[in-house]
Amino acid sequence: MIEVIDLHSTLGRQKVLDGVSLTVEKGEVLALIGKSGVGKSVLLKHVVALMKGERGRVLIGGEEISTAKGRKLERLRSRIGFLFQGGALFDSLTLFDNVAFPLREKTKMEEKEIRERVLYELEQVGLKDMEHKYPAELSGGMRKRAALARCMVTTPEIMLFDEPTTGLDPITAHSINELIKRTHDRACFTGIVVSHEIPDIFFLVDKVAMLHEGRIVAHGTPLDIMKSQHPIVRQFITGGRKEMEEMLEPIIKKLQEESRNKGKCAQERENEKV
Ligand SMILES: Nc1ncnc2c1ncn2[C@@H]1O[C@H](COP(=O)(O)OP(=O)(O)OP(=O)(O)O)[C@@H](O)[C@H]1O
Ligand SMILES: [Mg+2]
Repeated sequence: MIEVIDLHSTLGRQKVLDGVSLTVEKGEVLALIGKSGVGKSVLLKHVVALMKGERGRVLIGGEEISTAKGRKLERLRSRIGFLFQGGALFDSLTLFDNVAFPLREKTKMEEKEIRERVLYELEQVGLKDMEHKYPAELSGGMRKRAALARCMVTTPEIMLFDEPTTGLDPITAHSINELIKRTHDRACFTGIVVSHEIPDIFFLVDKVAMLHEGRIVAHGTPLDIMKSQHPIVRQFITGGRKEMEEMLEPIIKKLQEESRNKGKCAQERENEKV
């Protein structure tokens, strides 16, 4: 569903992406991990063609978005929901109008239906009764949750989340992860989640890819990555601390149990293969 093929991208004088190749299958959710400043947000922006590389291609459902223009670009982008790292809400619109925006832009829904949908989505992210507030009146975490509601309100086929839970308290972060999981089970979208929350994020996704020095250095199931002997991956997962090795054991065990206990969307995919 998402194919990145030998993507090279230089920003200023810095070669940020140096031959990135990565595939996300239909219905799969992939966690993109890697050090701060390595180019994770830049890679997501290439997937929606907000940035263009000097070499390589990005395909969405087999169609090239990296060279698409006008109508075609618009059509491909409309299949994708994007949660920007900073939220990127419209400051001059209330929360209600922010979340309603994609519905008014992309669908022919009646105002009454839009109202129900928006209020439902705001409630899901814990912002019930906040619809009249403006982004400036909210805390950072509330803005993040509102942006998430706006990203999910149209349940697009593809969702890209750039750090959906960073900066939130642990309870809210957990409920947002659960919400993403529930939405995925219901809508079976294809997704990429950028996250620093290791190991928590491993329990949410089907695959993990690690970006390092402009390339994908590891790509596999959460269990594969957790057990990987690749020195860069090991160092990243343990934070370079020897004592963490022991602490990973119960996490590996839990991941093994979870992989037997797949979510609804994963089961649907398995059934399709048969
Ligand atoms: N618009 C831009 N113009 C020039 N350089 C940029 C631009 N956007 C990003 N960069 C540079 O590209 C590199 C990768 O940035 P990016 O934001 O993708 O990192 P990241 O992996 O998302 O980091 P973090 O985990 O901190 O969010 C950085 O060195 C950054 O300075
Ligand atoms: Mg980033």
